[in-house]
Amino acid sequence: MTFPAGFLWGAATASYQVEGAVSEGGRGPSIWDTFAAADGKVLGGATGDVACDHYHRYPEDIGLLADLGLNAYRFSVAWPRVMPDGRTTSAAGLAFYDRLVDELLSRGVLPVLTLYHWDLPQALEDAGGWPSRDTASRFADYAAVVHAALGDRVRQWTTVNEPFCAAFLGYGSGVHAPGGQDHATALVAAHHLLLAHGLAARALTGPGHEVSLALNFAPAIPDGSSPAHAEAARKFDGIHNRFFLDPVLGRGYPADVVAAAGRFAECVRDGDTDVIAAPIDWLGVNYYAPARVTPLDDPQAPSNCPLPTLRGLDVLPAPPPLTAFGWEQSPATLTSLLTWISARSGGLPLVVAENGASFVDKVVDGRVYDAARVNYFMEHLRAVHDALGLGVDVRGYFAWSLLDNFEWAMGYTQRFGLIHVDFETQRRTVKESGRFLGRVAKANSL
Ligand code: FCB
Repeated sequence: MTFPAGFLWGAATASYQVEGAVSEGGRGPSIWDTFAAADGKVLGGATGDVACDHYHRYPEDIGLLADLGLNAYRFSVAWPRVMPDGRTTSAAGLAFYDRLVDELLSRGVLPVLTLYHWDLPQALEDAGGWPSRDTASRFADYAAVVHAALGDRVRQWTTVNEPFCAAFLGYGSGVHAPGGQDHATALVAAHHLLLAHGLAARALTGPGHEVSLALNFAPAIPDGSSPAHAEAARKFDGIHNRFFLDPVLGRGYPADVVAAAGRFAECVRDGDTDVIAAPIDWLGVNYYAPARVTPLDDPQAPSNCPLPTLRGLDVLPAPPPLTAFGWEQSPATLTSLLTWISARSGGLPLVVAENGASFVDKVVDGRVYDAARVNYFMEHLRAVHDALGLGVDVRGYFAWSLLDNFEWAMGYTQRFGLIHVDFETQRRTVKESGRFLGRVAKANSL
């Protein structure tokens, strides 16, 4: 397999999942500090207080990434480090990212910076959080501050990571911070996250700068061929995929979703959809697994899809082989997803901004033989290669994740890293999958 010249070969992390040092450098609390500290929210009572201690160990971690042969690092900036109260800039907080970016550049690694990967300053949550429209404006201010500080060296800017999860898991199902459980509110939060993306995009311009956002896609596979199955898949696809993709592409919110979404339209003001449609240079595609959907005979019956827009369907258990998380492995779906987005967007450049799998890993004699993950990456890279062959403009591939880390509500129980982390000692061990990905990257960079 050969990939286009200039292809980005990277690994991704997110601030709260790896940094630790939650009270250092003047960092303020985020919604994840609060959520993780509350009883019963995170498996095993785990928190990101220490995580991978990346705040102190970033030179070692970047060294490992560079030595593997990867040429890009997708990381996120912690808003509460840069603005402890969500509004006031902290020089010490910015200085950390200054050091991080300089370290990357000194190792020849391209920084790909995400501004929001879910760690909202607690002070802004207290002022209303994402259900409040003002949060989108605060985000635009924050984006401008980070851009002014790092824009001389960082050219790749991603505004928001996975607004679906931030809105629907954070304010709807309540399994993520801040733990809200109201689906109508979650839809409003989703709109404000997209608005935040659009407002920030305007602030992120500069010579050679590229703007993006990262959406998570869950392609819907109907578990049967009846019209009712097709209808169930359409509904699922609407809220998971089109509701976020379409407004970003300038198509507005999909009419079928809006029609099913109660009073949602009331929060969308004149001009909002134009803001959200701000031009982007590439789209980050986060892909893990499809969803197998089936219609329910009784459209009002309780289902495992609680969103109001999803009445009348269920998601079935995934067929094996599963990852440790219980997620399906379907590389072919990545090819069809990339092809679909490319067609829908008129050939927008795409970057696979997250793809990866958790498995149970063991360090044996200083090595981690994670054959299942090697296979996972190999098959998904083939899937990307197939999409390239079909004419899709894919510009890069980022493994989730560089390091085993704090996997949100699952605590430290799901290891996704190319590098194993012993959370007792902070010892790093490169896994075979890391070497594999690095070899592919190097072979393509000759
Ligand atoms: C994605 C998140 C990322 C990580 C992976 C497993 O939804 O963006 O932080 O948790 O899932």
